Amino acid sequence: MNKKHTINSIKNQKGKEPLVMITAYDALFAKLIEPYADMILVGDSLNMSFLGEVDTLSVTLEQMIYHTKAVCNGAKNSFVVFDMPFGSFITKEDALKNSIKVFQQTYADAIKIEGGKDRAYIVEHLTKNGIAVVGHIGLLPQNVRSDGGYRVKGKEPKEIESLIEDAKAIEEAGAFCLVIEGVKSEAAKEITKSVNIPTIGIGAGIDTDGQVLVWSDMLGFFEDFKPKFVKRYLDGAKLVKEALKKFQQEVKSKKFPDEKYIY
Ligand code: KIV
Repeated sequence: MNKKHTINSIKNQKGKEPLVMITAYDALFAKLIEPYADMILVGDSLNMSFLGEVDTLSVTLEQMIYHTKAVCNGAKNSFVVFDMPFGSFITKEDALKNSIKVFQQTYADAIKIEGGKDRAYIVEHLTKNGIAVVGHIGLLPQNVRSDGGYRVKGKEPKEIESLIEDAKAIEEAGAFCLVIEGVKSEAAKEITKSVNIPTIGIGAGIDTDGQVLVWSDMLGFFEDFKPKFVKRYLDGAKLVKEALKKFQQEVKSKKFPDEKYIY
């Protein structure tokens, strides 16, 4: 069994062996993922792949807590990060109240907050009150409606500069790790060089200090669409469909259950 990470062991990975972060939404997959991930993220992406919604915005704090309890049950030896859902950290007081609820009701080790310099005061309030925070900058899925869609960031020098400011502000506010999403590779490299905390990329190239993917994307279970940055390591949906078809055929043809499966 791998030793469970701590904030310090994660911070110490900066510039060393890349960190592996994988999302999980339930105990079953958390248990499968545990041996292969440095951190498990209960991402609000579950609203899309698990609950079938069009974006991440409608998932509630209570739903996230429900899934995080399941993940912590399945992966007792993992460093679990709770993704604060849209609307749960509008003010620093809300953010602290909701983070305390998360820590009291689940075994999550840290929370993740989307946003750059504009949200740094919230990160600071949390870290000063004993909540470990993972930042999240670049493409922010919780802004999809206000931004009018998903757009890769870090194409222009001015935008790269602004992202570096975001990263530095979040680090200064006390975050121990930073997710960089949907950012041009060169920009993500610059951001990674500009901070002393490890960066975890998703659609951000090879030069971050780690990578995160959504489990249902990387294992090919989510078929609605596939962003360019997603590599499918398994054709999960195809395998499941083949198995289900076989079961259907065997039930219809009275092949299942045979002698081996009856009392
Ligand atoms: O919700 C999520 O799964 C995430 C990752 C994309 C980083 O925030």
